[in-house]
Amino acid sequence: MNKLATLFVAALLAFPVGAAEPWGNADPKAGKVLHDKQCVACHVHLYGGDGSTMYTRDGRLLSTKLDILQRVATCNSQTKAAWFPEEEAEVAAYLNQQFYHFKE
Ligand code: HEC
Repeated sequence: MNKLATLFVAALLAFPVGAAEPWGNADPKAGKVLHDKQCVACHVHLYGGDGSTMYTRDGRLLSTKLDILQRVATCNSQTKAAWFPEEEAEVAAYLNQQFYHFKE
């Protein structure tokens, strides 16, 4: 099998057919709790209000569900929130449900 085919199979395994979300069935409610505790204050400091302008502003950085997951992982390590991958998934699920509404 060539490299590309291997990657393709790996992607299929990572996102089984039928699993619509890259974060599986992670619970957005748990994500909200984590997010409000460890992420919101700094975004509020930057944008005021409830900080959600960070996610809805013109020129925001993200455009897909995978972008959200990656960004949450990056912020997790930058802020030393020390979340497990399951917790990153919950926060990503929350951000999409509440703010981004990406379909893919
Ligand atoms: C110390 C401040 C700070 C903390 C804490 C912080 N962020 Fe951020 N966040 C930022 C800044 C600044 C940006 C904008 C980066 C840019 O525009 O290049 C950002 C951007 C983002 C974005 C992308 C917004 C867009 O453009 O669509 C997401 C998602 C995000 N943060 C999630 C998180 C999560 C999840 C946490 C908690 C683990 C977190 N942030 C904690 C400062 C912070």
